[in-house]
Amino acid sequence: MIQPEIRHLYVHIPFCPKVCPYCSFYKEASDRNKTRRFLDSVLRELDARTVDAKIAPQTIFFGGGTPSALSTSQLEYLLGGLRERLDLGRLEEWTLEMNPATVSLEKASVLKDLGVNRISMGVQSWDEELLKVLGRVHSGAQARRSFEILREAGFQNLNLDLIFSVPGQTRVQWEQSIATTLELGPEHISAYCLTYEEDTAFFDRFRSGEFRQEEERDAEMFEVTMDRLGAGGYAQYEISNYARPGFESLHNLGYWQGAEYLGLGPSAFSRVGGRRWENVPDTVGYCDRVESGGFGEGTVEELSGETLHRERVMFGLRTRRGVVRGDLEPWRDLADRFEADGFFEGDPERIWLTRRGRMVADALAAEFV
Ligand SMILES: C[S@@+](CC[C@H](N)C(=O)[O-])C[C@H]1O[C@@H](n2cnc3c(N)ncnc32)[C@H](O)[C@@H]1O
Ligand code: SF4
Repeated sequence: MIQPEIRHLYVHIPFCPKVCPYCSFYKEASDRNKTRRFLDSVLRELDARTVDAKIAPQTIFFGGGTPSALSTSQLEYLLGGLRERLDLGRLEEWTLEMNPATVSLEKASVLKDLGVNRISMGVQSWDEELLKVLGRVHSGAQARRSFEILREAGFQNLNLDLIFSVPGQTRVQWEQSIATTLELGPEHISAYCLTYEEDTAFFDRFRSGEFRQEEERDAEMFEVTMDRLGAGGYAQYEISNYARPGFESLHNLGYWQGAEYLGLGPSAFSRVGGRRWENVPDTVGYCDRVESGGFGEGTVEELSGETLHRERVMFGLRTRRGVVRGDLEPWRDLADRFEADGFFEGDPERIWLTRRGRMVADALAAEFV
């Protein structure tokens, strides 16, 4: 049997300094008693995976939760353990997500020395009032200081996450948040429209009618985002992601272009050899499973060629490069209609979304069933 070669590795760190009321990622408040067992389980799961697959990553992404909620020595232990086990000869991008409240010069310098070359920091907003609405643990001033610390530590590839359409947010406040971000000049900006995710405190307030989803406001904020970030020199290479030339996230491009990836840690997804699985979304359950059998797998799905094709089209269309025309063959009439209606445009080889198409990307994607 030919061993699959894995080029993209994701590691999920499920701890946060404090849980935000809008967020549905699998996470829990940091708990010192669980951490060491969790770190050992991740390394053990990696050992079990390397028996059947060759892992020589081009990209590694530590996400969460909040990887920077780990202490400097815990990060040294985990990242050092990974370095010992992996062939890093092909590594181009190693990203780690940080919350501004958990950044220090010592931690940032250690991460840099261990090989991390890209930091993604969740800022969400620079406005103190909106940061309170979002239940964030940091102020705008602290986020700015953390950004400066990351620069001081030598990081030359920084992403900042922002959220728009926060309850009570005005267009002027959003423009101001974008202006402050542009002033700092990160290499990459992710700008997400707030979504009301089930099983969050925000969802309950949405269901009770206190918070409302307003399509017109969302569209206006999205247009402002595209205009301002475009004018600031950032190309929108995916619906919610903007980068200076040469700073697109290779890890995320891998996902969107249908590459295979391996995920370690609770709730992490993997897709290898036509199988997709999700590790159990529970830290203790995950550790139990890894300790007894080496793997954290919970649910598994066998993917047909048709499903893989459809997913490649749906994700590909969200990117600036779009998809090759041949991939749209099963939906030819639909694609022709979207092109005639001004949602799609292309050249003889590829098709991608117009600005008008990007405004309604989710609704268009839903048609590819
Ligand atoms: C794992 S967090 C980033 C790192 C760190 N945990 C933090 O929050 O600072 C991933 C990002 O997803 C975005 N996000 C989370 N929940 C969201 C929601 N309900 N709507 C829109 N964006 C959301 C936020 O921008 C957040 O920074
Ligand atoms: S947004 Fe980040 S810090 Fe907040 S709960 Fe989600 S993962 Fe944790």
